[in-house]
Amino acid sequence: MKLSFNVNQRDVTVDVDGAEPLLHVLRERLKLTGTKQGCDEGECGACTVLVDGRPVDSCILPAGVVAGRQIRTVESLAGPDGQLAAIQQSFVDRFAIQCGFCTPGFLMTLTALLEENPRPEETEIRGALSGNLCRCTGYSTIVDAALAATGDDQ
Ligand code: FES
Ligand code: FES
Repeated sequence: MKLSFNVNQRDVTVDVDGAEPLLHVLRERLKLTGTKQGCDEGECGACTVLVDGRPVDSCILPAGVVAGRQIRTVESLAGPDGQLAAIQQSFVDRFAIQCGFCTPGFLMTLTALLEENPRPEETEIRGALSGNLCRCTGYSTIVDAALAATGDDQ
């Protein structure tokens, strides 16, 4: 099928099997490799992208579902001059990145949360991140980074 959608403010049309996972379309066809392929089973959150502002596991989302929708990937976060978004800068400042494999997924989940609720409580942050797994950090620096992005980390 010819599949048209918007990704990172760009209209694209790709020739795909509608059952192909969105993750594969993003990585293999559109070369948006910032979104990571981890478990490929909807368990780890490494593949999280935003579909009309909501975080989804793109590894288990059939691409055909996103026809006409707005997709945002981690490549959308930095400004045109490469300036990091506030949540990205917080991750750097709070040492919330170790191997970095999980980071794009965490950033996209937190972007959706902070756009919906700019000042979430720690419990809300932890709840929102329940579908994102990290094997390196122990999560506390990630939560600290999210709180810092809200200005509520003191
Ligand atoms: S790669 Fe999609 S949830 Fe793990
Ligand atoms: S920083 Fe390595 S998996 Fe999260």
